[in-house]
Amino acid sequence: MTNRLKKPVALIGWSGYSGQELAKLVLAHPQMELAGCFSRSADQNLRDLLPAAPDVPLIPLEDLAARAGEFDTLFFATPHEVSADLIPRVQSKKVKLIDLSGSFRLHKNEGFTYGLQPWQPTLTSWVANPGCYVTSVLMALIPLLKSKLIEADSLVIDAKSGATGAGKSAKTELLFSEVEGNCLPYKIGCHQHLPEITHYLKSFSGVETQPFFTTHLMPFKRGIISGIYARTSAKTEDITSAFSEAYANYPLVKFQSVDDGGRLMNLNQVVGSARTHLSYKIVDQQLYLFSCIDNLMKGAASQAIENWNVLHDLSPSTSLEVLQ
Ligand SMILES: NC(=O)c1ccc[n+]([C@@H]2O[C@H](COP(=O)([O-])OP(=O)(O)OC[C@H]3O[C@@H](n4cnc5c(N)ncnc54)[C@H](OP(=O)(O)O)[C@@H]3O)[C@@H](O)[C@H]2O)c1
Repeated sequence: MTNRLKKPVALIGWSGYSGQELAKLVLAHPQMELAGCFSRSADQNLRDLLPAAPDVPLIPLEDLAARAGEFDTLFFATPHEVSADLIPRVQSKKVKLIDLSGSFRLHKNEGFTYGLQPWQPTLTSWVANPGCYVTSVLMALIPLLKSKLIEADSLVIDAKSGATGAGKSAKTELLFSEVEGNCLPYKIGCHQHLPEITHYLKSFSGVETQPFFTTHLMPFKRGIISGIYARTSAKTEDITSAFSEAYANYPLVKFQSVDDGGRLMNLNQVVGSARTHLSYKIVDQQLYLFSCIDNLMKGAASQAIENWNVLHDLSPSTSLEVLQ
């Protein structure tokens, strides 16, 4: 029976890595009811993956368009081409849509807003959730570019991700024996997140950039650490002030200078949480900045929950601050 105090939401792609995190967050949210899991197969249900989950109805994917109007929100944690195919089928229904894929991030479908929190405080009812690498970079750089604290033409971004970033489907390069003990640069200078980074740095900070950008596959499961380097004539206190001002009302960013013996916030401290951790230091007018997120949380599922919260006039961090 539907709990009237809670909004019924449904998931598509719940069996994937980000979909499972999303399911956990929805189940823990005080104002959401996980009322349906759409699936292309009847072989698996949510309890097979999350044994303590309640009995959530499994709905055949072919019923998506017919049943969409029963829900407050549909979350798509599906591959790009699947979201691109399924979402137009439900856009005529009165249902909010939050898509974790890259299909609608760069204005290919009018009506979607780009849900980077806390930078996009007003949303339309169709939301394109940002990419994981992109989120780690934008959260670090928007405040500094807006305040003109770094030289935009000197930017180098060296980003590293755990293997869940590539999703659950089988690929040779993701075999344990390929990934373990390795560090693989890939899509050098041509990762699909680079245009998303430059586009949204410009739209949120007003500054054009053309950064070096390399991504690496690392031998751990979760987390992204982006090393970001730039020339600067700013002092460490200026960087701290820019982050303090930008994130004064947003508890999901932690930042600290490592100039004065402070400790670098490492990846293990952020995995499993909805936070972004920024650590920085300046040496000889060169900024070294490290942005860490959990790719499945702030990079995907918890940011989708932030967007749902904003769509429902709640603070973005509702139900997420408890995650340590
Ligand atoms: N992984 C990350 O760190 C991350 C971060 C940010 C954004 N994203 C984006 O989020 C989306 C999901 O990523 P993921 O890594 O969680 O993927 P994943 O682990 O590969 O899971 C994909 C999900 O989509 C479902 N699916 C695949 N093909 C389908 C089809 N034709 N029809 C219906 N459902 C289908 C799968 O269900 P079955 O069980 O039926 O195969 C599975 O539940 C992608 O667009 C990805 O780019 C991922």
